[in-house]
Amino acid sequence: MSKIIFVGGKGGVGKTTCASSLAWKYSKKHKVLLVSTDPAHSTRDLFDIPPKRNEDFYTYSQNLHILEIDGEKESDIYISRIKKQCCEMLSPVILCEVEKQLDTASISPGAYESAIFEKMSQLILKNKEYDYIVFDTAPTGHTLRLITFPTSMNTWMESLIKKRKKILMLKNMKFNKKNKFSNDRVLNILESRHSWISDISKVLMDPSRVSFNFVMNAEKLSFLETKRAVKTLDEYGINIDKIIINRLLPNSSDPFWQGRKDKESMFVDMIFQDFKEKNLIPIPYFLEENTKILETIGNLIKKAT
Ligand SMILES: Nc1ncnc2c1ncn2[C@@H]1O[C@H](COP(=O)(O)OP(=O)(O)OP(=O)(O)O)[C@@H](O)[C@H]1O
Ligand SMILES: [Mg+2]
Repeated sequence: MSKIIFVGGKGGVGKTTCASSLAWKYSKKHKVLLVSTDPAHSTRDLFDIPPKRNEDFYTYSQNLHILEIDGEKESDIYISRIKKQCCEMLSPVILCEVEKQLDTASISPGAYESAIFEKMSQLILKNKEYDYIVFDTAPTGHTLRLITFPTSMNTWMESLIKKRKKILMLKNMKFNKKNKFSNDRVLNILESRHSWISDISKVLMDPSRVSFNFVMNAEKLSFLETKRAVKTLDEYGINIDKIIINRLLPNSSDPFWQGRKDKESMFVDMIFQDFKEKNLIPIPYFLEENTKILETIGNLIKKAT
């Protein structure tokens, strides 16, 4: 079973850099899939891979593959699948109305996220090829919704199942039939969906399979956002085990830069106080070009874990 690594954090703090560094590092000995769930993909750019038309999957090396999830494409696949299921269950008159509703739903913001979640869970539950799957995610809010999706979906699914069973019971009573819930196609779909979501929930809460890495910078807004994210995920029973404090400035003889460094050090102290139970990984600010820092950062993160 593959190990799953999520890399999240505020916009611009270095998520893509850290996720790519980890993927790079692991790919030295293992088969790795680096997945970008951020609609504004930049994972491929970091590896200097030119874009290919209609392509979301790239091979960087024999052991390192990159997938940039195309939310729109996944959303189309997702809605077509639901339409197909409806086709098998509904009369042509109702189907026409449902199709209209689904077309409207397909362009709603929720559909995009559901589709990304769908693809993410398929990768996590069905993959047999990779030893590691590293998710480079979008800024915090988006990521939190993605990771906490199963919990909210589960509650919704449970209420739909309950409602469906009630309808079936009333139907059975009216026609004086014995309970034959298992023959009901709608209930079967709802229950298989519920079990799929429970499976992904279990994986996300299993620290032996999943590691959550938060990237932050030692400054006020990033600090506050990370505190909120850690608290929210705690409430969902998801533990952030590593916090990467990225782009730490060196000491300087220049008063401006030393002033910034002093302010940063104040936040570093606060981070070490507030997150003392987490594995905190400081990463310096590097001058080198993107691909050159990947190996150095990958080594630093791996060494600290
Ligand atoms: N330790 C570092 N030293 C020097 N530059 C860094 C370091 N980490 C990241 N960078 C640079 O900072 C910039 C932002 O990094 P990155 O794209 O990884 O952030 P991000 O969190 O993924 O951003 P977004 O939220 O837009 O996806 C990039 O130019 C990257 O090269
Ligand atoms: Mg990024």
